[in-house]
Amino acid sequence: MNGLPPGPRDGVLHQTVAFHRDPLAFLRAGQVEFGDVFTIRLLTARPVVVAAAPESVGELLEADPDSAHAGEARRSVLPFADPCSVFGGDGAAHRAAQAHVASALSPGAVDERREEMAAIAARHAEALPRGRPFPLLERVRDVTDEIFVRLVLGIDDEGLATRLVASIRHLLSTPGNPPVTLPGPGDGLVGRLGQKLFERRQAPALAALSEATGDRRRAEELMSLVMAAQEPPAIALTWLLDRLGRESDLTESFLAAPEGAEADSVVKETLRLQPPASAALRRLTAPRRVGGHELPAGVDVMVPSTLLHRDPRGFADPDDFRPGRWRETPAPDAPFFPFGGGARRCVGEHLAHAQIATVVPAFLAAGRIRPLAPEPELMVQRATVLVPKRGLLARVD
Ligand code: HEM
Repeated sequence: MNGLPPGPRDGVLHQTVAFHRDPLAFLRAGQVEFGDVFTIRLLTARPVVVAAAPESVGELLEADPDSAHAGEARRSVLPFADPCSVFGGDGAAHRAAQAHVASALSPGAVDERREEMAAIAARHAEALPRGRPFPLLERVRDVTDEIFVRLVLGIDDEGLATRLVASIRHLLSTPGNPPVTLPGPGDGLVGRLGQKLFERRQAPALAALSEATGDRRRAEELMSLVMAAQEPPAIALTWLLDRLGRESDLTESFLAAPEGAEADSVVKETLRLQPPASAALRRLTAPRRVGGHELPAGVDVMVPSTLLHRDPRGFADPDDFRPGRWRETPAPDAPFFPFGGGARRCVGEHLAHAQIATVVPAFLAAGRIRPLAPEPELMVQRATVLVPKRGLLARVD
C-alpha cells in the first residue's frame, strides 16, 4: 500500500518476532525513530499503522464506526472472529450482535451474580497448588471461563459446563515461543494449516456451545464472544494478584474496600502499565488524517495502549507503579483506554470490574500469593493481548 508513514525497514519475519517477543521495546524503538505515527509489517497482518499521538485516541476511537471498522481490523489479526459477532462484525451485523449480548452483560444482570462469582473463585482458590511454583494465569483463566460459561451463557448443566470450560481453555493457545498470532485464511499455505489447526482446536467448544444453544449459527457467534471474553479479564486479575503479592500494604487496603478509592487506583495503575488488550484496532473505510498524517482508505490502524499508557507527555515517571497519581488533583488527563472507546468500547467492562471485586479477594483469602520473579514478568504479545511471559509463575504458602 503506497503513501503510508515510514517505519522499521527490517524484514517482516524479524518485525513479527520482535513485536511478539517484547512489544513495548519494539514499539518504543519505532516511536523514537519515526515519531508518533509509523508503519510496521507483520507476517500475519497487512501493514499496520501505529498511531501513538495522544490525539489519535479521539481521532479514531470516537470516529463514526462506519468510517473506521473495528471488526474488519480485528479479523485481520484474529481471522477466526465471526463477521456476524459483536467482536468481529461491523455495521448492522455488529449492532444486531451487540443487542444479543447487551442484557446478559448489563450492570443489573452482572451484579445479581456477584455472590456466585465469589463462590466460584473461592472454590478455585482453595484448589491452588501449595508450596510449588505454578503459572497463575492458567488458574485464573479457569475461574473467568467458568464465570463466563455459568453466569453469562447461563449454562447450569454440570457436565456441559465442565466440558465447555475445558474446551475453551485450549482455544486461544497459540503455537511458538514467543507465542505468535495464528495465521488464518488468506495467509497462503501456512494460513491454511493454521486454519485447520484452529478448527480442530475449536471443534469441542463449538460442539458444546451448539448443544447448549441448540443453534449452530448462534454457537459460532458466541465463539467470538468467548474469544473476546476469555483472556483480558484473566490477564487483568493475574497482574493485580502479582502486584498485590509484591506490596502487602496495598493488599490490606484492597481487602478492606475492594471498590474503594484506593483499590480503584491500584486497578487503574495496573491496567495502565499492563493493559490486557494491547491496542484498539480500526480499518479505515475512507481516507482520514491521523496524528498529522493523511492515511488512505483500507489501511489498518493500531492505537497502542502499550505506548500511550506510558507516554511521558501524559504521565510523570511513566514506568513507575504509582497508584497515588490517580488520587491527585488534578488527576492525570492523558489517554487511558484499557477498555477502548467510542461505539466499539468493551461490552464486558462491567463484568470485568465485578470479577475484580469478587475474584481478587477470594484468591487473597486463600493464602499469600508470591510471584517468583523479583520484577513483574515481561509482557509478550499474543494475538491482540499482552500476557506475562511465563504465565506469571507464583507460589502459594
Ligand atoms: C479487564 C478486562 C477486559 C479488558 C481490559 C477488555 C478490553 C477490551 C478492549 C480494549 C476492547 C476493544 C475496544 C475498542 O476497540 O475500542 C474490547 C472489546 C470487547 N470486549 Fe473486552 N475487555 C475485558 C473484558 C471483557 C469481558 C469480560 C467480555 C465479555 C464478557 C469482553 C467482551 C468484549 C467484546 C465483545 C468486545 C467487542 C466490543 C465491540 O466491538 O462492540 N471483554 N475489550
